[in-house]
Amino acid sequence: MPMTVDLSGKIALVTGAGRNIGRAIAETLAANGATVVFTDLKLADVEAAAQGVPRAAAMALDVSDEAAAARVVADTIARFGRIDIVVNNAGINTATRVPVDQFPRSEWDRILAIDLSGLFFVSRAAAGAMRRQKSGRIINITSVAGLVPLRLQCAFTAAKAGVVQLTKAMAIELGGDGILVNAIAPGSILTDGTKQLFYGDPAAAEKASRMLSHVPLGRPGACADIANAALFLAAPESGYVTGHVLTVDGGWTAGYTRDF
Ligand SMILES: NC(=O)c1ccc[n+]([C@@H]2O[C@H](COP(=O)([O-])OP(=O)(O)OC[C@H]3O[C@@H](n4cnc5c(N)ncnc54)[C@H](O)[C@@H]3O)[C@@H](O)[C@H]2O)c1
Repeated sequence: MPMTVDLSGKIALVTGAGRNIGRAIAETLAANGATVVFTDLKLADVEAAAQGVPRAAAMALDVSDEAAAARVVADTIARFGRIDIVVNNAGINTATRVPVDQFPRSEWDRILAIDLSGLFFVSRAAAGAMRRQKSGRIINITSVAGLVPLRLQCAFTAAKAGVVQLTKAMAIELGGDGILVNAIAPGSILTDGTKQLFYGDPAAAEKASRMLSHVPLGRPGACADIANAALFLAAPESGYVTGHVLTVDGGWTAGYTRDF
């Protein structure tokens, strides 16, 4: 039986909700009673994702556009009267896997602009409104890379580590106004993108088994695993949890899987 909580009357906004983890989070919040604004780069994508979801709305939002982030939060409040839950899920990485001395400035800027600055823009806009309401939940999707660096991924690692500290900074600043700020650090999650990596071809299988040798549970997670973690952090029952980073990684970052 799926986990259920009561989010009826709550207004939620999810970034990057057009597919995969963001979409699963948005659907899960809606299935538990929230009114959910699905946002993503392309309006058509979020309209398709929100189709048939009760009470849902769809808005285009590029989180790296500071003015757009403020506008979409304002539009959400204009339409629904308040904003209770923000899930900062939108995030990118790069296929360029090179050491730091060769890492392209353009990729550094692109990743930081979305994964860290974008998350700040949306959070800042929502935090003002939540402060006036004296309540709110901000849930940030970081990565295990934000806790334990991954080689050849310096920008993603730095951005996601920034998300971890920004989460805690916001938690201590906003707690007095009843706003809880937490993060989720996913490990390897099976999405349309990573399915190819894990199960694409025989070469992929070899790489996948190498990656999964670091995961005590021996398998990738599902989008639903992240959505359920987000549901917990959005729920009334987690009302004393703030400034926390919830790793959902099959044990990847718990320690070394090799014997010494
Ligand atoms: N899949 C994994 O294994 C994994 C692991 C660790 C962390 N994460 C994090 O989880 C989040 C979601 O990952 P996913 O695998 O579902 O990614 P995904 O690429 O499948 O989906 C990301 C969504 O974000 C949207 N997006 C991209 N740039 C945007 C922007 N500027 N503004 C708004 N939306 C934008 C995309 O259009 C897409 O719909 C990301 O923050 C990612 O870093 C994923």
